[in-house]
This record gives sequence, C-alpha cells and structure tokens, in this order.
Amino acid sequence: MLTMRLSHVIISEVGRDTDLSLGDILHPHEVGVYNRLAGYARADWLCGRVAVKRAYRDYVCKQNLALSAVEVANKRNGQPYICNHADGYCSISHSHGQGLAAVADHPIGVDIEKIRPHSRELVDYIVDQRELNVVARTIQGSTDQLVTTVWTIKEAVMKALGFGLAIAPKSVVISNHQKGFYTVLARCKTRVLEWYVYSVVCDGCCFSIASLLSYGQPKLDWVNQSFISTATASDEY
Ligand SMILES: CC(C)(COP(=O)(O)OP(=O)(O)OC[C@H]1O[C@@H](n2cnc3c(N)ncnc32)[C@H](O)[C@@H]1OP(=O)(O)O)[C@@H](O)C(=O)NCCC(=O)NCCS
Repeated sequence: MLTMRLSHVIISEVGRDTDLSLGDILHPHEVGVYNRLAGYARADWLCGRVAVKRAYRDYVCKQNLALSAVEVANKRNGQPYICNHADGYCSISHSHGQGLAAVADHPIGVDIEKIRPHSRELVDYIVDQRELNVVARTIQGSTDQLVTTVWTIKEAVMKALGFGLAIAPKSVVISNHQKGFYTVLARCKTRVLEWYVYSVVCDGCCFSIASLLSYGQPKLDWVNQSFISTATASDEY
C-alpha cells in the first residue's frame, strides 16, 4: 500500500502567531526565490513550503530536522522536488493563505482551491456532463463546490503527471467514485494512466490528492491530525 504524508498549513501558523522566522523556514538557497516573488505571492508560497517540509520531516521520521535544512526546488516544468531526497516525490498547492503538500515514494499530486463561482465557459472547457454527474452524486453542497471539486480533482492529476495546465483538462476524465475515492483516467501520449483521487472540503476550500491506481488505495497520513477530523470528505472514507 502506498503511504503518503500530507500536511495542511494555514497562514496564521507561519506569521506573527508563532516564533517561526524566515530563517527557520527557508534553506539559504530558497531565500533568493522568496525575495524574487511579488509581495502578494509570498505568504501563500511560504505556506506551501512549510507544508511540504513538515510532510517530508514526518515522512523520513526525523521530527527534529530543522525546516531550513530541507531544500525544496522546482524543475524546469515547475514540478517541485526535495533536494535532500531527489528520488522521492512531492506536490505542493497554495491558495488564499493555505498550503497543502504531500510527500511519497510514487507520483502524487495535490490541489487546493477556495470554493468560488466559475464561468459556464470554463466549466464547458474542463468537464463533461457525465463527469459532473459522477461528482454531483458525492457532493451535498452548492454548484460552486461541485465545480471547484471537479477542478481540484483534475488539477491534482495533471500535477501528478508533471504537466499542470500544459495539457487539456478534458484529457483527464473522472470516471467513477467508490469507497471514498474517485477513479480518474488520464490520456498521456500513447498511454492511459489510472489514478485514485481523494477529495475533501474544509474551511471553504476543496482539497484533492491524486496517486497512481496501480499502487492501490493510498493510506493518507496527515502530519496535522486535527485537520482531517474537522474536514468533511465527499464520501465516507
Ligand atoms: C501547476 C499549475 C497548474 C499551478 O496551478 P495553480 O492553481 O496556479 O497553483 P497551485 O498553488 O495549485 O500549485 C502551484 C504549485 O504547483 C507546482 N507545480 C508547478 N508546475 C508544476 C508541474 N508542471 N507539475 C507539477 N507541479 C507543478 C509547484 O510546486 C507550485 O508551487 P511553488 O511554485 O510554490 O513550488 C500551473 O502553474 C501550471 O500549469 N504549470 C505548468 C505549465 C507551465 O506553465 N509551465 C511553465 C513553467 S516555467
């Protein structure tokens, strides 16, 4: 069974409410990246970095490892990797002062988005009615929640593939939902890859987590246990 470590961080954990300073969080090589970011993007970026570093620390069972000793960089395509652990996999997402990250030894992708309205044109661009029906059966909330969930499911898979939005959202197809996981097919050149995606709603945001179906249903191991207990899964997990 695939085990992944997941971490969710909210902005108040990173700011003045804690004694964490930039030097405690960032590896010296990361400070330049932070300084080059636009001011408005810095807080979210930091949430993502804290989340992935906490997940990594837990993943390697080194609770005393300083966050600043973990260096996270991005490949040319934007995909993140942990320099200390180049043969492992990680994924990062940040939105509206929250960060979500996962670390595992197989390809994974995560996405977090604030629930908000989307235009009809965007909905038509990303999803077919059949897929909407699959997700609608698992959602009790609004249309905005439905569409945001669909979006995060697809983006988590597109990130796990390493493409992000470089591929068309409709090449990723939500086919089913069983025992708490969506099954998703992604056409990738000549191959079709199958994924499990777990989705959850918490604090006005949708979270989706994708892993390859061939490794079996993943065990989702949260660094911050309190998070999962306050979240509502879109189905019984
Ligand atoms: C990945 C992508 C969908 C991000 O979507 P978003 O909703 O705006 O942002 P999120 O917060 O959910 O995700 C951002 C994270 O995705 C990750 N990411 C970026 N590109 C990625 C890729 N190709 N594959 C997997 N993960 C990627 C990064 O870790 C990034 O966070 P970081 O910059 O703090 O390290 C979008 O950036 C994308 O499509 N990128 C790839 C295509 C592209 O434009 N490449 C040019 C790179 S120069």
